[in-house]
Amino acid sequence: MLSYNDQDNDKRTRKRFKYINTVILGRKRDPIIQITTSEPEVINMCKELQTETTIARNKVLDKIYECYNNSNGTSKKYNKEEIELDPSYHLPYLELFLDNDFPPHMVALDAAHPWLVYWICNAYRILSESPLPPTINLKIKNKFFPPLLTTLKKAGPFGGGVNQIPHVVANYASILSLGLTDSPEIWSLIDRKAIYEWFLKLKLPNGSISTSESTGEHDVRSIYCCLSVASLLNILTMELVEGMLDFLINCQTFEGGFGGSPGEEAHGGTTFCALASLVILIPFLYPNKVLDDFIDVDNLLRWLSARQPNEEMGLNGRSNKLVDGCYSFWVGGSAAILESLGYPFVIDKSALREYILRCCQSTETRGFRDKPGKRPDFYHTNYVLLGLCCCDSVFYTKDSNPLNFVSRIKPGNKDRGVAAINPVYALTCETTRNMYEFFKNFSN
Ligand code: FPP
Ligand code: ZN
Repeated sequence: MLSYNDQDNDKRTRKRFKYINTVILGRKRDPIIQITTSEPEVINMCKELQTETTIARNKVLDKIYECYNNSNGTSKKYNKEEIELDPSYHLPYLELFLDNDFPPHMVALDAAHPWLVYWICNAYRILSESPLPPTINLKIKNKFFPPLLTTLKKAGPFGGGVNQIPHVVANYASILSLGLTDSPEIWSLIDRKAIYEWFLKLKLPNGSISTSESTGEHDVRSIYCCLSVASLLNILTMELVEGMLDFLINCQTFEGGFGGSPGEEAHGGTTFCALASLVILIPFLYPNKVLDDFIDVDNLLRWLSARQPNEEMGLNGRSNKLVDGCYSFWVGGSAAILESLGYPFVIDKSALREYILRCCQSTETRGFRDKPGKRPDFYHTNYVLLGLCCCDSVFYTKDSNPLNFVSRIKPGNKDRGVAAINPVYALTCETTRNMYEFFKNFSN
Protein backbone atom coordinates (compact mmCIF):
# COMPACT_ATOMS: atom_id res chain seq x y z
CA MET A 1 0.00 0.00 0.00
CA LEU A 2 1.17 3.45 -0.80
CA SER A 3 0.06 6.11 1.57
CA TYR A 4 0.60 9.80 1.41
CA ASN A 5 1.10 12.15 4.26
CA ASP A 6 -0.77 15.10 2.83
CA GLN A 7 0.55 17.75 5.14
CA ASP A 8 2.81 19.29 2.50
CA ASN A 9 0.29 22.02 1.81
CA ASP A 10 -0.11 22.80 5.44
CA LYS A 11 0.77 26.48 5.65
CA ARG A 12 0.18 26.46 9.37
CA THR A 13 2.81 23.77 9.87
CA ARG A 14 5.17 25.39 7.44
CA LYS A 15 4.97 28.61 9.35
CA ARG A 16 6.23 26.86 12.44
CA PHE A 17 8.67 24.42 10.92
CA LYS A 18 10.73 24.09 7.81
CA TYR A 19 8.41 21.40 6.63
CA ILE A 20 9.64 18.57 4.45
CA ASN A 21 7.25 16.83 2.07
CA THR A 22 7.08 13.25 3.11
CA VAL A 23 5.85 10.21 1.29
CA ILE A 24 5.56 7.06 3.32
CA LEU A 25 5.57 3.64 1.71
CA GLY A 26 4.56 0.57 3.64
CA ARG A 27 1.92 -0.68 6.04
CA LYS A 28 1.67 -0.76 9.79
CA ARG A 29 4.11 -3.36 11.10
CA ASP A 30 5.72 -3.80 7.63
CA PRO A 31 9.13 -2.33 6.97
CA ILE A 32 8.49 1.32 6.21
CA ILE A 33 10.43 3.29 3.62
CA GLN A 34 10.24 7.01 4.09
CA ILE A 35 10.95 9.16 1.06
CA THR A 36 11.49 12.85 1.39
CA THR A 37 10.47 14.59 -1.80
CA SER A 38 9.57 17.94 -3.23
CA GLU A 39 8.77 16.39 -6.65
CA PRO A 40 5.31 17.65 -7.65
CA GLU A 41 4.74 14.54 -9.79
CA VAL A 42 5.24 12.17 -6.87
CA ILE A 43 3.09 14.31 -4.62
CA ASN A 44 0.30 14.51 -7.21
CA MET A 45 0.42 10.78 -7.83
CA CYS A 46 -0.08 10.18 -4.13
CA LYS A 47 -2.86 12.73 -3.93
CA GLU A 48 -4.83 11.02 -6.69
CA LEU A 49 -4.45 7.61 -5.11
CA GLN A 50 -7.72 6.14 -3.81
CA THR A 51 -7.56 3.80 -0.83
CA GLU A 52 -10.11 2.54 1.69
CA THR A 53 -8.92 5.30 4.00
CA THR A 54 -9.16 8.13 1.46
CA ILE A 55 -12.71 7.02 0.60
CA ALA A 56 -13.66 6.92 4.31
CA ARG A 57 -12.06 10.31 4.83
CA ASN A 58 -14.00 11.87 1.94
CA LYS A 59 -17.27 10.64 3.47
CA VAL A 60 -16.32 12.18 6.81
CA LEU A 61 -15.29 15.41 5.08
CA ASP A 62 -18.74 15.70 3.46
CA LYS A 63 -20.36 15.58 6.90
CA ILE A 64 -17.81 17.97 8.37
CA TYR A 65 -18.36 20.49 5.58
CA GLU A 66 -22.08 20.32 6.31
CA CYS A 67 -21.34 21.28 9.92
CA TYR A 68 -19.07 24.13 8.85
CA ASN A 69 -21.54 25.30 6.21
CA ASN A 70 -24.51 24.77 8.41
CA SER A 71 -26.25 23.56 5.25
CA ASN A 72 -26.03 20.66 2.80
CA GLY A 73 -23.12 20.84 0.44
CA THR A 74 -19.57 19.76 0.20
CA SER A 75 -17.69 22.98 -0.22
CA LYS A 76 -15.81 24.33 2.73
CA LYS A 77 -17.53 27.64 3.27
CA TYR A 78 -17.24 28.73 6.83
CA ASN A 79 -20.18 29.89 8.72
CA LYS A 80 -18.63 33.05 10.13
CA GLU A 81 -21.13 33.29 12.96
CA GLU A 82 -19.34 33.11 16.33
CA ILE A 83 -19.99 29.86 18.09
CA GLU A 84 -19.94 29.57 21.87
CA LEU A 85 -20.14 26.67 24.27
CA ASP A 86 -23.41 26.51 26.19
CA PRO A 87 -22.65 24.51 29.38
CA SER A 88 -26.33 24.55 30.41
CA TYR A 89 -27.18 22.50 27.30
CA HIS A 90 -24.73 19.71 28.17
CA LEU A 91 -24.85 19.61 31.97
CA PRO A 92 -28.18 17.68 32.15
CA TYR A 93 -26.54 14.85 30.13
CA LEU A 94 -24.03 14.45 32.98
CA GLU A 95 -26.43 15.25 35.84
CA LEU A 96 -28.83 12.52 34.75
CA PHE A 97 -26.13 9.91 35.43
CA LEU A 98 -24.76 11.63 38.50
CA ASP A 99 -28.21 11.39 40.06
CA ASN A 100 -29.45 8.03 38.73
CA ASP A 101 -28.23 4.49 38.18
CA PHE A 102 -26.86 3.55 34.78
CA PRO A 103 -29.45 1.91 32.50
CA PRO A 104 -29.35 -1.92 32.15
CA HIS A 105 -27.79 -1.92 28.66
CA MET A 106 -24.64 -0.39 30.16
CA VAL A 107 -23.93 -3.61 32.06
CA ALA A 108 -21.29 -4.37 29.42
CA LEU A 109 -19.27 -1.53 30.93
CA ASP A 110 -19.24 -3.17 34.36
CA ALA A 111 -15.45 -3.32 34.61
CA ALA A 112 -15.25 0.29 33.45
CA HIS A 113 -17.17 1.82 36.37
CA PRO A 114 -14.16 3.82 37.64
CA TRP A 115 -13.78 5.28 34.15
CA LEU A 116 -17.45 6.24 33.96
CA VAL A 117 -17.16 8.02 37.30
CA TYR A 118 -14.03 9.88 36.18
CA TRP A 119 -15.35 10.84 32.72
CA ILE A 120 -18.72 12.07 34.00
CA CYS A 121 -17.44 13.88 37.09
CA ASN A 122 -14.43 15.43 35.35
CA ALA A 123 -16.61 16.70 32.49
CA TYR A 124 -19.06 18.03 35.07
CA ARG A 125 -16.29 19.89 36.91
CA ILE A 126 -15.00 21.44 33.69
CA LEU A 127 -18.43 22.51 32.48
CA SER A 128 -19.84 23.68 35.78
CA GLU A 129 -16.54 25.23 36.92
CA SER A 130 -17.44 24.30 40.46
CA PRO A 131 -16.60 21.48 42.90
CA LEU A 132 -18.71 18.32 42.88
CA PRO A 133 -21.82 18.57 45.10
CA PRO A 134 -21.42 16.87 48.55
CA THR A 135 -24.04 14.24 47.58
CA ILE A 136 -21.86 13.16 44.65
CA ASN A 137 -18.74 13.10 46.82
CA LEU A 138 -20.55 10.74 49.17
CA LYS A 139 -21.57 8.50 46.26
CA ILE A 140 -17.95 8.36 45.09
CA LYS A 141 -16.75 7.57 48.60
CA ASN A 142 -19.27 4.74 48.97
CA LYS A 143 -18.42 3.37 45.56
CA PHE A 144 -14.69 2.97 46.19
CA PHE A 145 -14.99 2.24 49.92
CA PRO A 146 -18.31 0.31 50.05
CA PRO A 147 -19.41 0.52 53.70
CA LEU A 148 -21.39 -2.74 53.67
CA LEU A 149 -18.78 -4.82 51.89
CA THR A 150 -15.63 -3.92 53.68
CA THR A 151 -14.60 -3.43 57.23
CA LEU A 152 -11.23 -2.13 56.08
CA LYS A 153 -10.41 1.39 57.09
CA LYS A 154 -8.46 1.96 53.90
CA ALA A 155 -8.73 0.54 50.37
CA GLY A 156 -6.67 0.15 47.24
CA PRO A 157 -5.35 -0.93 44.82
CA PHE A 158 -8.59 -0.84 42.86
CA GLY A 159 -10.07 -2.99 40.10
CA GLY A 160 -13.07 -2.35 37.88
CA GLY A 161 -15.51 -2.99 40.71
CA VAL A 162 -16.30 -5.01 43.79
CA ASN A 163 -14.69 -8.50 43.72
CA GLN A 164 -12.68 -7.68 40.59
CA ILE A 165 -8.90 -8.08 40.71
CA PRO A 166 -6.87 -4.85 40.89
CA HIS A 167 -5.90 -3.46 37.51
CA VAL A 168 -3.42 -0.62 36.85
CA VAL A 169 -5.74 1.17 34.43
CA ALA A 170 -8.87 0.79 36.59
CA ASN A 171 -6.77 1.86 39.59
CA TYR A 172 -5.74 5.02 37.69
CA ALA A 173 -9.36 5.90 36.88
CA SER A 174 -10.31 5.20 40.53
CA ILE A 175 -7.62 7.52 41.93
CA LEU A 176 -8.64 10.27 39.49
CA SER A 177 -12.29 9.82 40.50
CA LEU A 178 -11.34 10.06 44.17
CA GLY A 179 -9.16 13.05 43.34
CA LEU A 180 -12.16 14.84 41.88
CA THR A 181 -13.86 14.90 45.28
CA ASP A 182 -11.20 17.37 46.48
CA SER A 183 -11.77 15.86 49.90
CA PRO A 184 -8.80 15.20 52.21
CA GLU A 185 -11.09 13.03 54.34
CA ILE A 186 -11.73 10.74 51.35
CA TRP A 187 -8.10 10.89 50.19
CA SER A 188 -6.89 9.68 53.58
CA LEU A 189 -8.78 6.39 52.96
CA ILE A 190 -6.55 5.50 49.98
CA ASP A 191 -4.10 2.75 50.95
CA ARG A 192 -0.93 4.26 49.43
CA LYS A 193 1.35 1.60 50.90
CA ALA A 194 -0.69 -1.28 49.45
CA ILE A 195 -0.79 0.42 46.05
CA TYR A 196 2.97 0.96 46.10
CA GLU A 197 3.73 -2.64 47.05
CA TRP A 198 1.34 -3.92 44.37
CA PHE A 199 3.04 -1.71 41.73
CA LEU A 200 6.41 -3.23 42.65
CA LYS A 201 5.04 -6.75 42.11
CA LEU A 202 3.88 -5.74 38.60
CA LYS A 203 7.24 -4.44 37.41
CA LEU A 204 8.71 -6.25 34.40
CA PRO A 205 12.38 -6.76 33.41
CA ASN A 206 11.94 -4.63 30.24
CA GLY A 207 11.18 -1.54 32.36
CA SER A 208 7.43 -1.52 31.81
CA ILE A 209 4.73 -2.58 34.21
CA SER A 210 2.01 -5.18 33.83
CA THR A 211 -1.62 -4.09 34.22
CA SER A 212 -2.44 -6.93 36.64
CA GLU A 213 -0.99 -9.89 38.50
CA SER A 214 -2.62 -12.24 35.99
CA THR A 215 -1.60 -11.91 32.35
CA GLY A 216 -1.71 -8.15 32.00
CA GLU A 217 -0.78 -6.00 29.02
CA HIS A 218 2.26 -3.80 29.46
CA ASP A 219 3.08 -0.69 27.46
CA VAL A 220 3.23 3.10 27.77
CA ARG A 221 -0.41 3.16 28.93
CA SER A 222 0.29 1.03 32.01
CA ILE A 223 3.48 3.04 32.67
CA TYR A 224 1.53 6.32 32.53
CA CYS A 225 -1.27 5.00 34.77
CA CYS A 226 1.34 3.87 37.30
CA LEU A 227 3.45 7.07 37.19
CA SER A 228 0.48 9.42 37.28
CA VAL A 229 -0.92 7.68 40.39
CA ALA A 230 2.51 7.32 42.02
CA SER A 231 3.29 11.02 41.62
CA LEU A 232 -0.18 12.16 42.77
CA LEU A 233 0.04 9.91 45.86
CA ASN A 234 3.72 10.73 46.49
CA ILE A 235 4.90 7.12 46.26
CA LEU A 236 7.45 7.56 43.44
CA THR A 237 10.75 5.82 44.20
CA MET A 238 13.87 4.94 42.24
CA GLU A 239 13.01 1.28 42.66
CA LEU A 240 9.55 1.76 41.16
CA VAL A 241 10.69 3.68 38.10
CA GLU A 242 13.78 1.62 37.29
CA GLY A 243 14.01 0.89 33.56
CA MET A 244 10.96 2.98 32.63
CA LEU A 245 12.89 5.85 31.07
CA ASP A 246 14.67 3.58 28.57
CA PHE A 247 11.43 1.82 27.68
CA LEU A 248 9.71 5.16 26.98
CA ILE A 249 12.60 6.64 24.97
CA ASN A 250 12.61 3.54 22.76
CA CYS A 251 8.92 4.08 21.93
CA GLN A 252 9.58 7.27 19.91
CA THR A 253 9.29 6.39 16.22
CA PHE A 254 10.89 7.86 13.11
CA GLU A 255 7.68 9.87 12.61
CA GLY A 256 8.16 11.72 15.90
CA GLY A 257 5.22 10.40 17.95
CA PHE A 258 5.33 7.41 20.31
CA GLY A 259 4.03 3.88 19.91
CA GLY A 260 2.73 1.73 22.76
CA SER A 261 5.92 -0.38 22.86
CA PRO A 262 9.26 -0.12 21.04
CA GLY A 263 8.74 -0.76 17.29
CA GLU A 264 5.02 0.05 17.23
CA GLU A 265 3.37 2.77 15.16
CA ALA A 266 3.13 6.29 16.62
CA HIS A 267 -0.37 7.03 17.91
CA GLY A 268 -2.00 10.02 19.64
CA GLY A 269 -3.07 8.06 22.74
CA THR A 270 0.26 6.38 23.32
CA THR A 271 2.13 9.61 22.53
CA PHE A 272 0.23 11.36 25.31
CA CYS A 273 0.98 8.51 27.74
CA ALA A 274 4.69 8.45 26.86
CA LEU A 275 5.15 12.23 26.95
CA ALA A 276 3.26 12.71 30.23
CA SER A 277 5.26 9.83 31.73
CA LEU A 278 8.57 11.39 30.61
CA VAL A 279 7.53 14.73 32.08
CA ILE A 280 6.89 13.02 35.42
CA LEU A 281 10.04 10.88 35.28
CA ILE A 282 12.76 13.24 34.03
CA PRO A 283 12.61 15.86 36.83
CA PHE A 284 12.40 13.02 39.35
CA LEU A 285 15.45 11.16 37.99
CA TYR A 286 17.50 14.02 36.57
CA PRO A 287 16.49 17.41 38.05
CA ASN A 288 19.07 19.22 35.91
CA LYS A 289 18.13 17.70 32.58
CA VAL A 290 15.40 18.56 30.10
CA LEU A 291 13.20 16.64 27.64
CA ASP A 292 15.50 17.48 24.69
CA ASP A 293 18.27 15.52 26.41
CA PHE A 294 16.28 12.30 25.97
CA ILE A 295 13.96 12.52 22.94
CA ASP A 296 13.73 14.31 19.59
CA VAL A 297 11.34 17.09 20.64
CA ASP A 298 11.42 18.84 17.22
CA ASN A 299 10.27 15.68 15.49
CA LEU A 300 7.56 15.22 18.12
CA LEU A 301 6.35 18.81 17.60
CA ARG A 302 6.25 18.26 13.85
CA TRP A 303 4.29 15.01 14.26
CA LEU A 304 1.79 16.65 16.63
CA SER A 305 1.29 19.53 14.19
CA ALA A 306 0.71 17.07 11.33
CA ARG A 307 -2.22 15.56 13.24
CA GLN A 308 -4.34 18.58 12.24
CA PRO A 309 -5.35 18.53 8.58
CA ASN A 310 -6.43 21.93 7.25
CA GLU A 311 -9.75 20.60 5.98
CA GLU A 312 -11.08 18.89 9.11
CA MET A 313 -9.38 21.27 11.54
CA GLY A 314 -9.87 18.62 14.25
CA LEU A 315 -7.12 16.13 15.07
CA ASN A 316 -6.41 12.57 13.98
CA GLY A 317 -4.45 10.02 15.99
CA ARG A 318 -1.98 8.83 13.36
CA SER A 319 -0.88 9.35 9.79
CA ASN A 320 -3.62 8.91 7.20
CA LYS A 321 -6.37 8.20 9.72
CA LEU A 322 -9.65 9.90 10.47
CA VAL A 323 -10.23 12.90 12.69
CA ASP A 324 -11.70 12.08 16.12
CA GLY A 325 -12.78 14.46 18.91
CA CYS A 326 -10.93 12.58 21.68
CA TYR A 327 -7.56 13.40 20.07
CA SER A 328 -8.35 17.01 20.97
CA PHE A 329 -6.91 15.93 24.29
CA TRP A 330 -4.57 13.01 23.54
CA VAL A 331 -2.82 15.13 20.89
CA GLY A 332 -3.91 18.62 22.04
CA GLY A 333 -2.97 17.73 25.63
CA SER A 334 0.46 16.59 24.45
CA ALA A 335 0.91 19.95 22.73
CA ALA A 336 -0.24 21.64 25.95
CA ILE A 337 2.36 19.70 27.99
CA LEU A 338 5.04 20.96 25.62
CA GLU A 339 3.66 24.51 25.76
CA SER A 340 3.91 24.28 29.59
CA LEU A 341 7.63 23.58 29.14
CA GLY A 342 8.15 26.61 26.89
CA TYR A 343 7.82 25.00 23.44
CA PRO A 344 5.46 26.52 20.85
CA PHE A 345 1.87 25.23 20.78
CA VAL A 346 1.98 23.57 17.38
CA ILE A 347 -1.75 23.11 16.88
CA ASP A 348 -4.07 25.82 15.61
CA LYS A 349 -6.15 26.35 18.76
CA SER A 350 -8.92 28.37 17.12
CA ALA A 351 -9.30 25.85 14.24
CA LEU A 352 -9.52 22.96 16.73
CA ARG A 353 -12.07 24.95 18.72
CA GLU A 354 -14.18 25.24 15.56
CA TYR A 355 -14.05 21.47 15.02
CA ILE A 356 -15.02 20.81 18.63
CA LEU A 357 -17.90 23.23 18.74
CA ARG A 358 -19.27 22.72 15.20
CA CYS A 359 -18.61 19.01 14.64
CA CYS A 360 -18.49 17.34 18.08
CA GLN A 361 -21.81 18.75 19.28
CA SER A 362 -25.15 17.80 17.84
CA THR A 363 -28.39 19.74 18.09
CA GLU A 364 -30.28 16.49 18.65
CA THR A 365 -28.41 15.05 21.62
CA ARG A 366 -26.54 16.58 24.51
CA GLY A 367 -22.91 15.56 25.15
CA PHE A 368 -19.90 15.46 22.81
CA ARG A 369 -19.00 12.96 20.09
CA ASP A 370 -16.07 11.68 18.05
CA LYS A 371 -17.23 13.12 14.72
CA PRO A 372 -20.46 14.04 12.87
CA GLY A 373 -22.63 10.95 12.43
CA LYS A 374 -21.51 9.36 15.73
CA ARG A 375 -23.45 9.37 19.00
CA PRO A 376 -22.13 11.24 22.05
CA ASP A 377 -20.68 9.26 24.94
CA PHE A 378 -19.06 10.05 28.29
CA TYR A 379 -15.52 9.21 27.13
CA HIS A 380 -15.70 11.70 24.26
CA THR A 381 -17.55 14.26 26.38
CA ASN A 382 -14.66 14.30 28.86
CA TYR A 383 -11.76 14.27 26.41
CA VAL A 384 -13.36 16.71 23.95
CA LEU A 385 -13.95 19.12 26.84
CA LEU A 386 -10.35 18.69 28.06
CA GLY A 387 -9.32 19.47 24.47
CA LEU A 388 -11.47 22.58 24.49
CA CYS A 389 -9.69 23.67 27.69
CA CYS A 390 -6.40 23.28 25.76
CA CYS A 391 -7.75 25.58 22.99
CA ASP A 392 -8.93 28.25 25.39
CA SER A 393 -5.88 28.34 27.67
CA VAL A 394 -2.20 29.15 27.75
CA PHE A 395 0.09 26.74 29.57
CA TYR A 396 3.21 27.49 31.58
CA THR A 397 5.11 26.43 34.66
CA LYS A 398 7.43 27.99 37.18
CA ASP A 399 9.34 24.79 37.86
CA SER A 400 9.77 21.36 36.32
CA ASN A 401 7.45 19.58 38.78
CA PRO A 402 4.47 18.52 36.60
CA LEU A 403 2.13 18.75 39.61
CA ASN A 404 2.80 22.49 39.53
CA PHE A 405 1.95 23.03 35.85
CA VAL A 406 -0.56 25.84 35.46
CA SER A 407 -2.90 27.02 32.77
CA ARG A 408 -4.62 30.33 32.43
CA ILE A 409 -7.85 30.73 30.49
CA LYS A 410 -7.17 33.25 27.71
CA PRO A 411 -8.87 36.63 28.17
CA GLY A 412 -12.26 36.54 26.46
CA ASN A 413 -12.68 32.81 27.10
CA LYS A 414 -13.28 33.11 30.82
CA ASP A 415 -17.04 32.69 30.74
CA ARG A 416 -17.04 29.92 28.23
CA GLY A 417 -17.50 26.96 30.56
CA VAL A 418 -13.94 25.72 30.45
CA ALA A 419 -11.58 25.20 33.34
CA ALA A 420 -7.85 25.63 33.93
CA ILE A 421 -6.47 22.11 33.54
CA ASN A 422 -3.19 20.37 34.23
CA PRO A 423 -2.52 18.53 30.95
CA VAL A 424 -0.22 15.91 32.52
CA TYR A 425 -2.95 14.61 34.84
CA ALA A 426 -6.16 15.41 32.87
CA LEU A 427 -7.58 17.06 35.98
CA THR A 428 -8.17 20.69 36.89
CA CYS A 429 -5.10 22.60 38.09
CA GLU A 430 -6.93 23.08 41.37
CA THR A 431 -7.44 19.36 42.06
CA THR A 432 -3.89 18.45 41.00
CA ARG A 433 -2.46 21.14 43.22
CA ASN A 434 -4.67 20.14 46.18
CA MET A 435 -3.64 16.49 45.85
CA TYR A 436 0.02 17.49 45.70
CA GLU A 437 -0.30 19.66 48.83
CA PHE A 438 -2.15 16.92 50.68
CA PHE A 439 0.05 13.93 49.81
CA LYS A 440 3.40 15.71 50.05
CA ASN A 441 3.09 15.52 53.82
CA PHE A 442 3.11 11.72 53.79
CA SER A 443 6.45 9.95 53.91
CA ASN A 444 7.11 6.92 51.71
C1 FPP B 1 -8.46 4.16 18.81
O1 FPP B 1 -7.46 3.55 18.09
C2 FPP B 1 -7.97 4.44 20.19
C3 FPP B 1 -8.35 5.54 20.82
C4 FPP B 1 -9.23 6.52 20.18
C5 FPP B 1 -7.90 5.80 22.25
C6 FPP B 1 -6.45 6.09 22.32
C7 FPP B 1 -6.08 6.52 23.68
C8 FPP B 1 -5.11 5.96 24.40
C9 FPP B 1 -4.31 4.79 23.94
C10 FPP B 1 -4.76 6.61 25.70
C11 FPP B 1 -5.13 5.73 26.85
C12 FPP B 1 -4.91 6.49 28.08
C13 FPP B 1 -4.90 5.94 29.30
C14 FPP B 1 -4.70 6.83 30.46
C15 FPP B 1 -5.06 4.50 29.54
P1 FPP B 1 -7.85 3.14 16.61
O2 FPP B 1 -6.71 2.44 15.98
O3 FPP B 1 -9.16 2.42 16.62
O4 FPP B 1 -8.17 4.56 15.99
P2 FPP B 1 -7.44 5.43 14.88
O5 FPP B 1 -7.96 4.95 13.59
O6 FPP B 1 -7.90 6.81 15.21
O7 FPP B 1 -5.96 5.24 15.05
ZN1 ZN C 1 -12.37 8.98 19.94
